Amino acid sequence: MTSSFDTLIDRSDTGCAKWSRYRDDVLPMWVADMDFASPPAIVDALRARLDHPVFGYAMPEPALVDAVRSYLRAKFNWIVEPEAIVFVPGVVPGFNVALGALLKPGDGVVVEQPVYPPIHKAAANWDLRRIDVPLDYTADGWRCDLDRFDTALADASALLLCSPQNPTGMAYSRAELAHIAATCLANDVFILSDEIHCDLMLDGRRHVPIASLSDEIAACTITFMSASKTFNVAGLKAAFAVIPSADLRARFAAGTRGTVDSINAFGLAAALPAYRGDCAAWHDDLLGYLAANRDHLLARLSKEIPEIVTAKPSGLFLAWLDCSALGLEAPYRFFLEEAKVGFSPGSDFGADYGQFVRLNYGCPRALLDKGIDRMVAALARRAA
Ligand SMILES: Cc1ncc(COP(=O)(O)O)c(C=O)c1O
Repeated sequence: MTSSFDTLIDRSDTGCAKWSRYRDDVLPMWVADMDFASPPAIVDALRARLDHPVFGYAMPEPALVDAVRSYLRAKFNWIVEPEAIVFVPGVVPGFNVALGALLKPGDGVVVEQPVYPPIHKAAANWDLRRIDVPLDYTADGWRCDLDRFDTALADASALLLCSPQNPTGMAYSRAELAHIAATCLANDVFILSDEIHCDLMLDGRRHVPIASLSDEIAACTITFMSASKTFNVAGLKAAFAVIPSADLRARFAAGTRGTVDSINAFGLAAALPAYRGDCAAWHDDLLGYLAANRDHLLARLSKEIPEIVTAKPSGLFLAWLDCSALGLEAPYRFFLEEAKVGFSPGSDFGADYGQFVRLNYGCPRALLDKGIDRMVAALARRAA
């Protein structure tokens, strides 16, 4: 059965980062945006906004704040007051503002290893001390070692968490989050939680926002979410922070002055149908398509390139491929130059990950197969 997600959409010459970074003969499978059309309800909302031909500075309407609150309550059983929702132009600017506003140079920030490059680099932006907590590849996939978190948090002022985790696709369990949060509370550590991928959990899993665990945890946490990944509107630059503490909100607001400006009018227009639930059926179909793509990718890799080791991601549309057993000097360069497939280089996610690449399977199945075919053929040529 074909799906609307099978449709191949030509994104060349649309000023899109994903398809512009590499030469035309390279299939881009890197940055975390999907090659799917956004849901019709969002496209309609954007069209309606465009029909009003004045594009001055925007601000979130109360209806959007209500929609976000209803969504948090319905999805995560998390009750949040309207003033706690603070819109920002992006999650990355959001957590950077928070680091600058809450910490002073030299303070320690705990981050996972491997982790999304802007999280990996954030401490350096503010002269903070990055404290790495390596994740482990186990028989159950990627997992965190809570003892390592305990040791690292004892020496830190903030935790910058990526939950669910990019690039491994790992989901923290409620018990793990509770443990980590308790350690943060015991050590007076702020929690900055990047939960941008929270609506991309696969196989019926449910995401748990760390701040939803208790009021005490929420009071020291800033959570970042956005419709951007789930509904493929990352270019519209709109996200929100949930900041229940009035004190943290005031400090965050002070940190935004002069840098983080008002929100993109189209980003806000897209967020309303997303959070009001107008795209729920599309979202369900997307999760089914992504899970099938993931399973197809893993099945083909285990059969055709069994040297590549990868855990089954619990969510997102990214696969973290350990290519060590292929014996390549630089897997990213090999696949780019010999297979003409543009992955994200593993070394961007931490110094120890040069033998990894991150593959984006948020694309029509035909493109995914094209990428795998090219990998298989390049490796066969090398072996010949
Ligand atoms: C974990 C994570 N956080 C943040 C972002 C980007 O957020 P924004 O575009 O809202 O700054 C991404 C994009 O890939 C991501 O994977």
